[in-house]
Amino acid sequence: MTQITFQNARGERLTIDVPDGSTVMQAAVSNGVDGIVAECGGSAMCATCHVYVDPKFADRLPAPDAVEDEMLNSTAAERRINSRLSCQLVITEALDGLVFLLPDHQT
Ligand code: FES
Repeated sequence: MTQITFQNARGERLTIDVPDGSTVMQAAVSNGVDGIVAECGGSAMCATCHVYVDPKFADRLPAPDAVEDEMLNSTAAERRINSRLSCQLVITEALDGLVFLLPDHQT
C-alpha cells in the first residue's frame, strides 16, 4: 500500500492508502475524491482527471508520454508545468507521500 494525498483548491486534504498497481485516478474515484471526473474511464481521452503534482515530488514521476502530453492541452483548468492526467499515473511505492493538487474545475 502506498499513501497519497489529494488537496482541493480550498486547501482541504484527504490522505488515503492505495494498493500498488492502481492509478491515481482510480484511487480518487474509489475514495470519493471530489474534483476528479474521469469521464473516459482512464483512456486518456477526456482530460477530466487533471491534477497538479506538488512540485516537490515532480522528479518522482516519469514524464508524460505523447498521448498524455497531447491530451493535457485539453484540460479545462489551465495547464501548468506540473499538470498530469491522474489516469496515467500508476501507484508504486516510489510515490509514497505524494501530494496531488486538484484544479478548481474539470469541465
Ligand atoms: S480519465 Fe479521461 S483522461 Fe484520464
